[in-house]
Amino acid sequence: MLKIVTVVGARPQIIKAAALSRTIRNSFSDQIHEVIIHTGQHYDANMSQVFFEELGIPSPDFNLNIGSAPHGRQTALMIQGIEDILLSEKPDYIVLYGDTNSTLAGAVAASKIHIPVVHIEAGLRSFNKSMPEEINRIMCDHASTLLFVPTKTGIKNLEREGFKTGNPSPFTVDKPGVFHCGDIMFDNLLYFSELAGQRSNIMQSLNLKENEYVLCTIHRDNNTDSPGRLQQIISAMCNIAEKMKLGIVIPLHPRTSKIIESKLPGELYERLTTNKNIHLIPPVSYLEMILLEKNANLILTDSGGVQKEAYFFKKPLVVARPETEWVEIIENGAGIIADADEAKIIESVQFFQQHDSLKFPDVFGDGHAAEFICRTMLEQINPDLAK
Ligand code: UD1
Ligand code: UDP
Repeated sequence: MLKIVTVVGARPQIIKAAALSRTIRNSFSDQIHEVIIHTGQHYDANMSQVFFEELGIPSPDFNLNIGSAPHGRQTALMIQGIEDILLSEKPDYIVLYGDTNSTLAGAVAASKIHIPVVHIEAGLRSFNKSMPEEINRIMCDHASTLLFVPTKTGIKNLEREGFKTGNPSPFTVDKPGVFHCGDIMFDNLLYFSELAGQRSNIMQSLNLKENEYVLCTIHRDNNTDSPGRLQQIISAMCNIAEKMKLGIVIPLHPRTSKIIESKLPGELYERLTTNKNIHLIPPVSYLEMILLEKNANLILTDSGGVQKEAYFFKKPLVVARPETEWVEIIENGAGIIADADEAKIIESVQFFQQHDSLKFPDVFGDGHAAEFICRTMLEQINPDLAK
């Protein structure tokens, strides 16, 4: 039996972990035993619990309940808690997702006590080290023994940093295994997309019509914590709702809602909150979110996961960041980088209103990333188990 410890903490990790947990339960329950640690980085019910319930993820075996704190303190407390559990559980692997502080904490804790790190969503780079996520993902990749990379660009990024795809097994942290396996979020989307339409009535409850609204999410620290940037993005949303006959739906990350409530200038706050075409709503569940994505006219976001989901659903994308890790979307003409520039955001939305024959070639794999990851982990421990 292969024993893994999975670390989740932030919303997107809980969602990604659902795909692997489901695959273990459905196809590898005799071969893989998963122990789940929740760091507690996200803790509001609508940022955490809802995903365990809705996506059928087993309850965490351990919850560190770390909560919010400055980066160093939050990460340090997580490292301490994860180390204690790893020492008692003695897993074959620790499995980490993405690029949050929970990811970094898992990588530091495990690599120091020689528990091999499996990094899912490895190789992504923004080439912007002022992002906390860029530091987290680089450090995690360089402490990993198995790197599962969603895109070809991710492989190239790793090669540029000295990683090789052809290392022979057995893999080690010095000679890691690097695998291009597609995106685990696509596994989830294929699995849940139909179910979302049956289980969620969010379209009716918000009185939304297919193709008549822009779905927006904003939570990156450089957008929320920079008043000028946040104001440009919100003013663009207001303009779109006022002048372009499109509704705006904004499920608000708690970080963003706190700042809007406390720091947005009065006039802009009024425009945002009194326009009937703008739906400012609390974070939604995954099934609600993918239904909102599926029916949107366009998606405006600074989220990593939501950018990809826009592409999965073949929706035009406007990225409210200066760059993206998901460059394929931009290269294929399905997305535009507008940064936090009001005029550029509005122009980009207008552009997509006039150009609707976009192309979405497959770049995120076949929706079977989780199965590939399970088999690859098993092969390292005992090739017979993977058959
Ligand atoms: C974190 C990740 C980011 C990821 C995002 C997903 C890091 C450095 N950042 O950003 O990469 O894209 O999660 O959503 O790990 N808060 C609540 N309730 C919660 C969680 C957070 O109110 O359940 C508020 C707190 O005020 C907190 C703030 O949001 O201080 C930021 O939370 P934090 O987890 O530190 O970072 P995120 O911005 O969520
Ligand atoms: N998501 C959700 N409800 C919301 C907003 C996002 O379920 O209100 C999902 C979204 O569909 C995607 C994931 O959360 O699967 C993305 O997480 P987030 O934007 O918080 O983080 P990022 O991907 O930027 O790290």
